[in-house]
Amino acid sequence: MTPGIFDTMTFEVLTLFPDIINSYLSESIMKRAIERGAVRVDVYNIRDFTTDKHRQVDDSPYGGGAGMVLKPEPVYNALDYLDRDGLERFKVLLTPDGRVFNQSLAEEYAGDRRRILFIAGRYEGFDERIRAVSDEELSIGDYVLTGGELPALVIIDAVTRLLPGVLGDSRSAEEESFTTGLLDYPQYTRPAEFRGMRVPDVLLGGNHELIRRWRRKEALRHTLQRRPELLQRVNLSEEDNELIREIKEEEE
Ligand code: ADE
Repeated sequence: MTPGIFDTMTFEVLTLFPDIINSYLSESIMKRAIERGAVRVDVYNIRDFTTDKHRQVDDSPYGGGAGMVLKPEPVYNALDYLDRDGLERFKVLLTPDGRVFNQSLAEEYAGDRRRILFIAGRYEGFDERIRAVSDEELSIGDYVLTGGELPALVIIDAVTRLLPGVLGDSRSAEEESFTTGLLDYPQYTRPAEFRGMRVPDVLLGGNHELIRRWRRKEALRHTLQRRPELLQRVNLSEEDNELIREIKEEEE
């Protein structure tokens, strides 16, 4: 792959813990995507934008209560600093009360956005005025984490793997769950028998048409069993309906 032939996507992360972000980016597919120039990630420490002697990033909440709250000044200072370059950046605040991120949003970002900035809050919360700087508030699911670093990485990862040239085989991203609308079919590798569990015969034979049909059927079976609601959004072909009838008969 020739570096530089892609329109590089840039992510920026404002965090109190840059090492968390950098550590994930220094391995595996993210590392390779950065080396190849498909993506660029710039990490900024919010603490570097404090102006007081103690470099204080959080403070106790007005009105009382437990815990500390991320102060607005360092975040606004960081954004003022970044925005001096005049580049358009889409600003995302990570918070459990945001819109829930999913595969179709990952596709939208991979297609439309060239520069996305993430603000990762920490501690018990952030000053409400920080919300005003963001274009979008995102959550990665209905649970509460200790900070926005993992959510930022989750979104960066999900978007990056959709960018051209990142996955070795471009079919891998297109054929998978949530893109086809179905859950994945089962996969096997050698050995053909392991602790009494055999790889289905159809996969050992070389009949590509039979393999294609088997995979489609198992993807449908998997989806029917685990996430039947996903099927409502899939355009089922005549063959799909036939496969579903077979599955239902087998399971009676
Ligand atoms: N910060 C803490 N929990 C989060 C979540 N689930 N999604 C996004 N940001 C968060």
